[in-house]
Amino acid sequence: MKAYEIRDGFGLDKLVLGERPDPTPGPFQVRVRVTATSLNYRDLMMVEGRYNPRQKLPLIPNSDGAGVVDAVGPGVTKVKPGDRVVALFSQAWPAGEPTRAAQMNTLGGPLDGALAEFMLLHEDGVFPTPAYLSDEEAATLPCAALTAWSALVTQGGVKAGDVVLVQGTGGVSLFALQIARLLGARVILTSSRDDKLERAKALGAHERINYATTPDWDKAARALTGNAGVDHVVEVGGAGTFEKSLRAVRPGGTVSVIGVLSGGAGAVPLTSILMQNLRVQGIFVGHRQGFEAMARAFTLHAVRPVVDHVFAFSEAVRAFEHLKSGAHFGKVVIRVG
Ligand SMILES: NC(=O)c1ccc[n+]([C@@H]2O[C@H](COP(=O)([O-])OP(=O)(O)OC[C@H]3O[C@@H](n4cnc5c(N)ncnc54)[C@H](OP(=O)(O)O)[C@@H]3O)[C@@H](O)[C@H]2O)c1
Repeated sequence: MKAYEIRDGFGLDKLVLGERPDPTPGPFQVRVRVTATSLNYRDLMMVEGRYNPRQKLPLIPNSDGAGVVDAVGPGVTKVKPGDRVVALFSQAWPAGEPTRAAQMNTLGGPLDGALAEFMLLHEDGVFPTPAYLSDEEAATLPCAALTAWSALVTQGGVKAGDVVLVQGTGGVSLFALQIARLLGARVILTSSRDDKLERAKALGAHERINYATTPDWDKAARALTGNAGVDHVVEVGGAGTFEKSLRAVRPGGTVSVIGVLSGGAGAVPLTSILMQNLRVQGIFVGHRQGFEAMARAFTLHAVRPVVDHVFAFSEAVRAFEHLKSGAHFGKVVIRVG
């Protein structure tokens, strides 16, 4: 099979298209013919060696894949050849609290990922593709959508009337916007670009702030709530935004710590967390049970993932460069095969 591998070190220039033997499914395994894979910021960090510099190579990158079951091994009962499926980010997290096994069995590192013609997965590591979605749309769900779902629903308890602040217009953030809308929440969304804010408005963002021209976006967000503060922040910015997120949220509110786009280290203002009685929760994508609940809700409400651009398999490096440029709005997808 054709597969992109990070070989001989990290960097986009080390992402090479090669050949691997077609995998044969063993007991309880399924072989998926990949038709689409989407890019997460994590995948870019993985290729560049910023996610885990000690990651064993070669590695097939990409957490997110959708495709068709092509062959099954002995004992498989849950899917059959011809079924459309998506691959779950964690191959070992059915429900509940994360375990070491859940953290260590993730696609696109440490396990081989979806930027290849085939994937070999346990039957519990795939999920039926919601029928209303194309494979290109479905390939956006496993990491970005489930992360937003875990933040706002599984671990978030967001309810109608709450105010949710969403940072940026990348994959996780636009799913957070769509899920918050689904829950009946009011959404304040930030972006560095006015044209993206306009597009977010069309998607239902009630209020919008340009964080490039309004560096005090935390104050602006508070002002929009009559200075009360928002109920929940979907925090993807990391070190450069965390403190402001703490200032944007109301006493007793929640900050879901998801991303590190502007860095992963920095001082933590403990006093404001305790004085404001804040809940700061880490989010690590999510479990199969969460995915199931999300798929039901998305299907019921026909939620359509926002796909920015679909690249051809031969253009994988260009797709990563596009993600890296920050020009995208929503998800960047690569068609496979
Ligand atoms: N914890 C988890 O389970 C989990 C899961 C998925 C992703 N993540 C992390 O979440 C982050 C986002 O991932 P993604 O895949 O959605 O990325 P993405 O699609 O590449 O989104 C990036 C977007 O974020 C916005 N952004 C960049 N820097 C920002 C800043 N300093 N403040 C506010 N917004 C900023 C920009 O939006 P504008 O262009 O509109 O300004 C940018 O286009 C990454 O750090 C990723 O590693 C974590």
